[in-house]
Amino acid sequence: MDIKTFGIIGAGQMGNGIAQVAAMSGLNVIMNDIKKEFVGKGLGTITKILAKSVKKGKITDDDKTTVLGRIKTSTDINDLGKADFVVEAATENESLKFKIFKDLDNICASHVILATNTSSIPIGRIAAQTNRPGKVIGMHFMNPVPVMKLVEIIRGIETSDDTFKMTWNISERFNKTPAVANDYPGFIANRILMPMLNEAVYCLYHNVGTTEDIDMVMKLGMNHPMGPLALADLIGLDTCLAIMETLYNGFSDSKYRPCPLLRKYVEAGWLGRKTGRGFYEYK
Ligand code: CAA
Repeated sequence: MDIKTFGIIGAGQMGNGIAQVAAMSGLNVIMNDIKKEFVGKGLGTITKILAKSVKKGKITDDDKTTVLGRIKTSTDINDLGKADFVVEAATENESLKFKIFKDLDNICASHVILATNTSSIPIGRIAAQTNRPGKVIGMHFMNPVPVMKLVEIIRGIETSDDTFKMTWNISERFNKTPAVANDYPGFIANRILMPMLNEAVYCLYHNVGTTEDIDMVMKLGMNHPMGPLALADLIGLDTCLAIMETLYNGFSDSKYRPCPLLRKYVEAGWLGRKTGRGFYEYK
């Protein structure tokens, strides 16, 4: 099946990044979110990043105009009825994703693949909300999407070979390198990454070191591009907490218990970069 129009649910940091790479690969894009303000902000981010690329001489001003011209914004989920392939990149909340998949299953033609950018919720559980479990798959992008090379592809128990192949091909078209994971909570990326970030929060909670020292140890000692607490702020502390809870509940194993300090920050609305405050403050 020839994919011409690519639909995305969510215009947040993951959704707008996916929209950008899809449009840069030549596809028409529908970027949907619940509020005009959200899609406007998402489009603003894409515009800013493309403008930076023009300034650096990586693309021309015409390229920027062409890419932006391929992106249509929408606040009506029914618009996704025009898409040939849809990726959901909404907030990491199980009941919200279930509702979106039920809706998409009614709206989209029966051959359309419904992918989820979930960072940890089992694909089989999301697929079970639809009448097309063979066409549901995990397509997990990394943040910042335009920069990170990886797409983690997760097959649910019923995902068909055709769905897998198509998702693999689209990932390559987006200039990404796919890695395949089986369907267990957290898959590969967050099964490994999130306990490390959570442990960094425990180090702060137990006063083993300051925020700056914890991050410096991992940056300079382990050659990580950024420290774990700065990375948690980039990902979003609410997302980190949601992933830890999925691991904790999914494996019924106390080794995944979220650090109380992480929960405390989330409850205070300190969600990291997106709210201007997390382990660091952002202007
Ligand atoms: N969007 C687009 N481009 C961005 C960007 C963004 N948000 N942030 C940085 N960039 C670009 C910059 O423009 C720059 O491009 P050029 O090379 O063309 O100049 C390049 O990335 C490098 O940026 P900087 O020089 O500003 O800074 P840096 O070298 O420190 O890199 C970084 C920034 C890419 C974020 C780097 O620190 C990094 O790789 N950090 C780790 C990120 C990571 O681990 N991501 C995975 C998170 S886990 C996840 O996403 C999955 C999940 O489910 C939670």
